[in-house]
Amino acid sequence: MGQVVVRRRADGATELRVNGVFVMDDVETSSERRLAEHVLAAGAREVLVGGLGLGYTARALLDGGATRVVVAELHAEVARAVEAGAGAGPIADPRLEVVVADIAEVVQAQPAGSLDAICLDVDNGPDFLVHAGNEAIYGSDSIARCTAALRPGGVLAVWSMADSPQLRRALAEHLDDVEAIAVPVPLQGRDETYWILSGVAATA
Ligand SMILES: C[S@@+](CC[C@H](N)C(=O)[O-])C[C@H]1O[C@@H](n2cnc3c(N)ncnc32)[C@H](O)[C@@H]1O
Repeated sequence: MGQVVVRRRADGATELRVNGVFVMDDVETSSERRLAEHVLAAGAREVLVGGLGLGYTARALLDGGATRVVVAELHAEVARAVEAGAGAGPIADPRLEVVVADIAEVVQAQPAGSLDAICLDVDNGPDFLVHAGNEAIYGSDSIARCTAALRPGGVLAVWSMADSPQLRRALAEHLDDVEAIAVPVPLQGRDETYWILSGVAATA
């Protein structure tokens, strides 16, 4: 477990740090919301999300018509901060359940074929880990477990700071229609690109 700080900066932004490492702030959240929009566009209504962060993916899923959103968040401090109003919070919605747990355990606990989508945004992507323990989440075995929890046609969508050929290959071992979507984001006066890597569970 790391040391978690959710704090209001001098510029008014809310920032999440773990072990002194910047995770995210609420200045530019379009890619977090885009993760939700990607699975909603595929028709997803029952969605598992890992993790909560400042709540923008969860909020966008609910605003976009999801009927059930389960969010696995490793740190209780993060869940408490969003509940108290940080970031996109507070999100008081009967369709939302926030579980303080590792996403890997929550995925494993899902009944087979029970979800329309899984949105993974627990780290900066496979090549820029904040939590070393998250490496396995981007691996083939983990993607196989996510795939098993999806309904036919369900979507696994992964937020990443950079495109990752290795992650695309792991997705393609288990899922169809693998794509890497570039999401341009303006960050402190420069143009940055984040990525959503996704695949679709086989329908036949
Ligand atoms: C980049 S933030 C997520 C941002 C989120 N999509 C949003 O809209 O604000 C990553 C979150 O995942 C959490 N996390 C990290 N590893 C995790 C794990 N293995 N299981 C569940 N949550 C995890 C972190 O504590 C952090 O809150």
